[in-house]
Amino acid sequence: MKLLLLLIVALCSLQSVISVYCYWNTGCPYKYFSNKTPYNSVRGDIRDSVIKLTGCEAVSIWSLTRHGQRNPGPDYGSSMKDALVIRDYVSLAYKKGNSSLCAQDIENLQNWHFNKDLFDKPYQLTKEGFLESQGIARRLRQTFSKLLGNLESNDYLFRPAPGAWMEESVKGFVQGISSKPLTIQPPSPGLDILAPYESCPKYLKEVKYNPETYAPSAKYQSSSEYLAAKDRMQRRLGIDYSLTPTNITALYDLCRYTSSGNTFSPWCALFTTEDLKVMEYVADLRHYYKSGYGTPMTKLFGQIALTDLLKSFQEAKSGKGRKITGYISHATMMDMVYTALKLFKDDAPLSTSKRKLDRKWRSSKMSIFSTNFIAVLNKCNKGPDDYNVIFYLNEEPLQSICKEGVCTWKEFEDKLTPFVDTKTDFCNIDPSP
Ligand SMILES: *[C@@H]1O[C@H](CO)[C@@H](O)[C@H](O)[C@H]1NC(C)=O
Ligand SMILES: *[C@@H]1O[C@H](CO)[C@@H](O)[C@H](O)[C@H]1NC(C)=O
Repeated sequence: MKLLLLLIVALCSLQSVISVYCYWNTGCPYKYFSNKTPYNSVRGDIRDSVIKLTGCEAVSIWSLTRHGQRNPGPDYGSSMKDALVIRDYVSLAYKKGNSSLCAQDIENLQNWHFNKDLFDKPYQLTKEGFLESQGIARRLRQTFSKLLGNLESNDYLFRPAPGAWMEESVKGFVQGISSKPLTIQPPSPGLDILAPYESCPKYLKEVKYNPETYAPSAKYQSSSEYLAAKDRMQRRLGIDYSLTPTNITALYDLCRYTSSGNTFSPWCALFTTEDLKVMEYVADLRHYYKSGYGTPMTKLFGQIALTDLLKSFQEAKSGKGRKITGYISHATMMDMVYTALKLFKDDAPLSTSKRKLDRKWRSSKMSIFSTNFIAVLNKCNKGPDDYNVIFYLNEEPLQSICKEGVCTWKEFEDKLTPFVDTKTDFCNIDPSP
């Protein structure tokens, strides 16, 4: 019996080198789809992972959540639409006996249907995305039922960053928090602490809209690691059509955008686990240079959002604060907050030729759909100033931030106070001629 178990475990970890690998019945599909990972396939559960401290009581919660699953934007969407025809090439190659995919995986792919909204409604929040936000909030309410039981209008603030899919996500969140309707604040006009980089001309010009930002990720797409994945795909699928990186990204997008928390898309069968890990790293590099340690100014934007957390808990501590602050924003903002806090920081910059297997910077952990960073302020009974702050990421205690995941009030203030003076005047660039 034990031997059998061991064998199963061994098969799970070796699956990518065994030729009879079928996606549909693998007991252990690779679930990490970088920034498009469905929340429910990898989340924790705050109800189980809440850190219980005797003599302490939660008095305020601050949460920053990424919007839930949404449709692709128009550019990626159009590449995905173009790539749909690859399904026919794959079936044909299989019929000719050139493919080593499994019969059931081919059949599932042939029977796959898509919701027209996928391409017709770019950026629209999906039903799954709405439920992700709602589920997080519902579990929060169950965990902190005493605090969140009966919210009056001064007890809460819910606000999305601008954009329809953030506005829909926050509705899901609020429905999970309360069965009675609560007011949702409109997005902030002008500089928004939930997306301050969007009002920063220097960031937009030098980072977001600068092709150099994405060059490291593109460079990795010509590394031997990436080319090996491409060859592997080409051989497994047995198609004559020569796949470009754009085609491979489109197939990867078809796999992840049409997967959900409990069912994975048949498009994922085109990739082995090893291939998926290579795709994941392409995205890690984009995040690293667009919103992480690869660009020095990114941490400043994270500091702006974290200043709001500091002030919000200082007010709660003085008895004038809110019970819950719930913000919805983008993956970019989430990355910037981690960067300000020096979380997920590797010793060396990410390489563009070879991925480090045990790297800390993983978009599949940090920037998935509905990723959430939650801080809980506790009042404890050893004196009037006895407060602490516990952080959670995707509903698991964030151990790396303070010892065992619990920051004393002093540690919390020491960490965040230097952020209060963050200036954005560097954003103003001379309009170049
Ligand atoms: C493959 O990618 C190229 C660009 O690299 C594009 O022109 C072509 O239409 C794509 N083919 C499919 C089937 O998506
Ligand atoms: C597909 O198989 C045929 C023979 O069955 C062979 O001639 C052809 O080269 C194969 N194509 C590829 C891309 O492997």
